[in-house]
Amino acid sequence: MTTTQHTTLRHPLRATALGLALAMGTIVPLSGCRGERSDNTPRQFFPDLDDQMKWKPQGKSEFFADGRTMRLPVPGTVAFGRTSQVSDQPWAETYMTQRAALLREDDAFFRGVDETGAYLARMPVAPSRAMIERGMERFDIYCSACHGYEGDAKGTVGARWSYPVANFHDPKYRDLAQNTGKDGYLFHVVRNGVIGGDGKQKMPGYAHALNEQDAWAVVAYLRALQNARLATLEDVPTTEREILQRQRASAGQTATTADATSHSATNGGAK
Ligand code: HEC
Repeated sequence: MTTTQHTTLRHPLRATALGLALAMGTIVPLSGCRGERSDNTPRQFFPDLDDQMKWKPQGKSEFFADGRTMRLPVPGTVAFGRTSQVSDQPWAETYMTQRAALLREDDAFFRGVDETGAYLARMPVAPSRAMIERGMERFDIYCSACHGYEGDAKGTVGARWSYPVANFHDPKYRDLAQNTGKDGYLFHVVRNGVIGGDGKQKMPGYAHALNEQDAWAVVAYLRALQNARLATLEDVPTTEREILQRQRASAGQTATTADATSHSATNGGAK
């Protein structure tokens, strides 16, 4: 037997035939399917992880009662930020600011209310010159169209708006005994707008354009506008008074001249 096998393999013709058969056996399955379409189930020698159950985020689910594959976060879940570590070290400042902005735990700053949910009489951030200037810039962009550059309801859009706009020099916007006079309420209005009793949006909210810091800046500027009307010369630091008096005198002169001109023009027109 051993000798027969020996001779079989050694026989040159047979060896070639076997070699060919082996080569075909390798080449045919490799090249046969390339680029060709087939409706047959592919042969899988090592199925491993080829077939898995898979759900796409927007897909339908047979499993959950609401039919959604994508699940909502558990109620009360809050965004977590990049680090769970709370640190007062200087290196962590960026992360801590980010964390505070995501958690929004500070009701005073983020919502303008105290622990009981009541509007704050005074803003939780100390106004600075830079903040008021920022507020002025934002106010001129977002509010002046309706409320006027001086907050006296003389904006060009405001004049044609479906609802009469508010005049910030109305005493109710200074009276701390009413919500309308409180910084927290003004902040709320800036962020959310005003919805009337009929459910109609009378004033649009600006939360999309003014973040909390900017909304407080606008409130600070609104206060500056109010104060500018009510202040007397005695409220101005002594060093500034003389400059102001000079400005006032020259402005007064121009006003008188302008009045005189318009008067004569009117008279001229009447004649
Ligand atoms: C498209 C016009 C429009 C713009 C722009 C606008 N408002 Fe108003 N705003 C109104 C109208 C209308 C009302 C009156 C709503 C009502 O009848 O209570 C109002 C009312 C208010 C009130 C008083 C709310 C009350 O309860 O009495 C405040 C404060 C106010 N706006 C602040 C702002 C500030 C600050 C901005 C800029 C961020 C702004 N508004 C931009 C239309 C506008």
